[in-house]
Order: sequence, then structure tokens, then C-alpha cells
Amino acid sequence: MAIERTLSIIKPDGVEKNVIGKIIARFEEEGLTPVGIRMAHLARHEAEGFYAVHKERPFFGELVEFMTRGPVVVMALEGEDAVAKNREIMGATNPAEAAEGTLRALYATDIGENTVHGSDSAENAAIEIKYFFSDVQLFSRG
Ligand code: TYD
Repeated sequence: MAIERTLSIIKPDGVEKNVIGKIIARFEEEGLTPVGIRMAHLARHEAEGFYAVHKERPFFGELVEFMTRGPVVVMALEGEDAVAKNREIMGATNPAEAAEGTLRALYATDIGENTVHGSDSAENAAIEIKYFFSDVQLFSRG
């Protein structure tokens, strides 16, 4: 399996619930190493740009409202099979369907406020990491 990078976001609800440390600890325990971390309070245009693929969906307005409600933690994670592994640790989009022990099963409120974002492909991961980090903000831990 290849070493990959993926983008993770601890969404405003995760920051509000004071589970930043628990979430990062979980990633580290499972072999996903942060190679870039920063907090940001997203501007409307930043949240809209990040989720542009969903702009025609009925939940888009609420999603942007939620993502701009408070600060988030944005991370680039590195590890074997990082994209799929992060998705596995996160659990299903809807926490009611998320497997036991996944971050969304543990911490999410509902499908809208679901605590974490994770890239859905290596290609999107590269685009999303570039959206939030410049090269000098990323550190290889190899
Ligand atoms: P999506 O990319 O489908 O899920 P994931 O975050 O698991 O990759 O959707 C992006 C976000 O949009 C999702 O995390 C929460 C929000 N969303 C809703 O609020 N309602 C919905 O019905 C869906 C599908 C997503």
C-alpha cells in the first residue's frame, strides 16, 4: 500500500465539543500522522469554494452556514492508504449509519453536523490540501 496524504477537517461542532485532542490522538494511533495543522474560521466564500461540488444540493446553504459558524482545525494527514483509512475512521456521513467506534458515531450530532471531513479520493486530497496549505506549511515526517 502506498503512503498517501489526505485532508481532514475537524468541523465547528467538533471544536465546540472540545474533542480536537481526542480526534488527533485517534489519527495518530491509527497511523495517520499530521504533516500540516492549522485553525481557521472560514469565510463564507472559502466554505462555498471548498464545497463547490455540492452547490446545487438542497443542503448547501445550511452546510455553508454550519462550516462558517466557528473555527475549524484543518489537517493534512500522511500514512499508508491515508484517504481510505481516514474515511474508515470517520464513519458514514450520517452518524446514525456510522459504524460503532467511528468518529462520527462517537461525536457527530446529525448528517449536517458530522464533526469531521475527509477527502474522498487521492486526487481530491491533493486539491483540498492545496486549498488550505502552501508547500512551506507542510512537513514530511517520513
Ligand atoms: P458528502 O461529500 O456527501 O459526505 P462526506 O462528508 O461523508 O464526504 O457531503 C458533504 C457534507 O455535506 C457532509 O459531510 C454533510 C453535508 N450533507 C448534508 O448536510 N446533508 C446531506 O444529505 C448530505 C449528503 C451531506
